[in-house]
Amino acid sequence: MEASVLFVCLGNICRSPTAEGVFRHKVRLAGLEDRIHIDSAGTGAWHVGNPPDSRAQSVAAARGISMAGQRARKVRYEDFERFDYVLAMDRENLEDLRAMAPDEHYDKIRLFLEFAEQRAETEVPDPYYGGPQGFEHVFDLVEEAADGLLADIVERYRF
Ligand code: 4NP
Repeated sequence: MEASVLFVCLGNICRSPTAEGVFRHKVRLAGLEDRIHIDSAGTGAWHVGNPPDSRAQSVAAARGISMAGQRARKVRYEDFERFDYVLAMDRENLEDLRAMAPDEHYDKIRLFLEFAEQRAETEVPDPYYGGPQGFEHVFDLVEEAADGLLADIVERYRF
């Protein structure tokens, strides 16, 4: 049995690609790359086909994570069928996803930071119009939540 995770933000060039890259790295280190399918998407279409924002890539590279080959795409209706976890970076993404999702898949849609139990924050803030420290903060939040998510999947699927 395979588990599947879709990370979702607005543009799919900053937060959700970072989550995808970080989570893919952790899953590979855990030897679970054949058991967990990972992707990311945006609720908006402005950046479809584009690589992750260079600022996000720089922060990731400095921490040993490559996002090479990742390209932005928009969330599709079929994603709610395909993925077990549909994880929103902020409440706006959450509401947009809930508005799109078929009723039977509504419960798959959650805030990613639910898995960062030690954090007071519940949303990954949009870093697009801010400075480089915003991207560092995104990375820190994502890294913590990714650990919690992996633990959740390992327990739920008994990997
Ligand atoms: P993301 O960041 O949702 O984390 O990918 C953004 C990227 C682009 C825009 C907004 C947020 N934009 O308005 O173009």
